[in-house]
Amino acid sequence: MRTLSLAASLLWLLTSVAAYGRMPTEQQPRTVADGIYTDAQAARGQASYEAACARCHRPDLGGADGPALKDDRFNRMFAGKPLLGLHERVTTTMPRNAPASLAEAVYLDILAHLLRENGFPAGASELTMAMVEGVSVLPTRPRPAPPVGDFSYVEVSGCLARGPGGDWMLEQASDPVAVKPALDSRPQPPAAATAPRGRQTIHLIDAMAYQPERHRGHLWKVRGTLIRLPGQQRLTISSAETLAAACPPAPATP
Ligand code: HEC
Repeated sequence: MRTLSLAASLLWLLTSVAAYGRMPTEQQPRTVADGIYTDAQAARGQASYEAACARCHRPDLGGADGPALKDDRFNRMFAGKPLLGLHERVTTTMPRNAPASLAEAVYLDILAHLLRENGFPAGASELTMAMVEGVSVLPTRPRPAPPVGDFSYVEVSGCLARGPGGDWMLEQASDPVAVKPALDSRPQPPAAATAPRGRQTIHLIDAMAYQPERHRGHLWKVRGTLIRLPGQQRLTISSAETLAAACPPAPATP
């Protein structure tokens, strides 16, 4: 009985391996979610996009003279359709002031950039014409928040206090959240503002420019560049805002 079931398992294993071995040819990537471009290609595409497209469609694809190339508009126009349609639209009519003026490879790079900005993952090989022809577009996905590292541009909220050394800092601060620098004046979604009080301490490098004495003890929301040193986090402030004129009580310590 045992040997029989062992043989059966072996047989199952062998057939699965055989099936697995065939998979790549049978299941070619069919959608933009299958990693059909590389990060390097999208980076090239971003540079070309900024040179040839951004002034009408904005650097963040939000749309200006031309429609937005992301979110609802992108979904309405392109989701569920062949990628070839988007490719054709771009290569034959864009840039609007000089249609079909870019090299084929440059258009592919720009397409990779559009896909990356719309939340589709990069993969191991570059987007080629052959790939464009076999793939369909899906609704966009929110891009994952980038991890917070040293020199990240972040938002953080906490209680403004004066440290023993006379320096200003945020106490009981939330975990810093990476945000995009405000390249435009449109209001940005609140990130850390809604976060619960945290346990971080953030030293503010240039608080003096923001009249800290007047805001002492307030709940402050600050944006800036995070500098992580061993045992200390510092922030160079690029904007500061009072969220509340008093600081909520500290969270209970565990
Ligand atoms: C001079 C301004 C201008 C430039 C530069 C430009 N576009 Fe456009 N784009 C437009 C306008 C206006 C429309 C809508 C009307 C039309 O199709 O002509 C449009 C439409 C589009 C559309 C269709 C989007 C939709 O939802 O209907 C795509 C995709 C697009 N552009 C991509 C690009 C790309 C990629 C580049 C750079 C290679 C680019 N555009 C450069 C102005 C521009």
